[in-house]
Amino acid sequence: MVPLKNDRLIRALLRKPVDRTPIWIMRQAGRYLPEYRATRKRAGDFMTLCKSPEMACEVTLQPLERFALDAAILFSDILTIPDAMGLGLTINEGEGPRFAHPVRRRVEIEALPLPDPEIELRYVMDAVRLIRRELDGRVPLIGFSGSPWTLASYMVEGRGSRDFAITKTLLYDDPQALRQLLATVTRSVTDYLNAQISAGVQAVMIFDTWGGLLTARAYEHFSLAYMQQIVDGLVREIDGNRIPVVLFTKGGGQWLERIADTGCDAIGLDWTVDIGDARHRVGDRAALQGNMDPSVLHAAPERIREEAGAILDRFGHGTGHVFNLGHGVTPTIDPDHVGSLIDAVHELSIPYHQ
Ligand code: CP3
Repeated sequence: MVPLKNDRLIRALLRKPVDRTPIWIMRQAGRYLPEYRATRKRAGDFMTLCKSPEMACEVTLQPLERFALDAAILFSDILTIPDAMGLGLTINEGEGPRFAHPVRRRVEIEALPLPDPEIELRYVMDAVRLIRRELDGRVPLIGFSGSPWTLASYMVEGRGSRDFAITKTLLYDDPQALRQLLATVTRSVTDYLNAQISAGVQAVMIFDTWGGLLTARAYEHFSLAYMQQIVDGLVREIDGNRIPVVLFTKGGGQWLERIADTGCDAIGLDWTVDIGDARHRVGDRAALQGNMDPSVLHAAPERIREEAGAILDRFGHGTGHVFNLGHGVTPTIDPDHVGSLIDAVHELSIPYHQ
């Protein structure tokens, strides 16, 4: 494999010195880009786009053609695993994800198959191999999965939800059944991420989008404990290259020390925490990724630049920061504003690395 021409992301995630702060954007390939909307239209629907390695590769590379990003993220979705388990996923415009067959009863949980990532999820691995070839070492490729708790929440509820009431009822009424579901999903996520690593992703991120809905105690037992098992089960080095692992719990700002204890390489931060305080709390145990409020991107480019500068300033001098938003970029954002942010971070961060 060709060596990386730009390895800032990997270096910052491993807290090695960099010349400037690397940046990538959650949902960087997505509906705010007209070229994404055109490919999505050609595909017909979202899952067809995910299941075509050629089109998934095309949209993965689209933001890199426009912006000086320091990473590519595999174009796919966290819900590919439950889809491969036979839950019947559809993602329609404006509706969000839906499962035809949610899993709520013990018999349904016990009957869940464990997908083979190179068979049922082969389309993802083929996309990774194709993207690596097309990237030709320009920037690293990030692979990802949902956390067991977040995936289980969609699998039980059958759709997105504000409070995941059915899943929480299961948590309190039949925790054993939920634990069994989480154990199966954990095994599957571990296999899936290890297969992505074998196929060529150079860093992995676990999206625990709904961990912040839990109590501190439930977070430990129903989300973090399973992410810990994944961190322990991942292949962390390949051909002498360390594969950094990022854990992102949205709404998890109170639990940063506990997240660092898992031995992950970096922690994703939403916008509700002060990144300077987070750095102080986590110390040298993990790098930090984040954490600008995505809504800032609606503001004028000068304001975006100021907000980016404030985050860089709060993090302070030295490595261990990957700039990102605190959550995904939304469809109504002007792509030029994303460009302003990326340029601002690159320019303004240089003094912090001298
Ligand atoms: O970041 C990237 O550019 C990589 C691609 C990516 C997508 N989804 C593409 C996508 C990633 C990393 C995800 C992760 C994902 N998917 C998460 C975790 C991150 C987060 O946002 O908290 C979650 C919870 C999902 C589940 C999911 N997929 C939802 C809730 C939706 C609907 C979103 C909406 O706004 O309608 C999706 C669909 C989806 N995944 C889209 C994209 C670009 C939009 C679908 C479309 O094109 O119509």
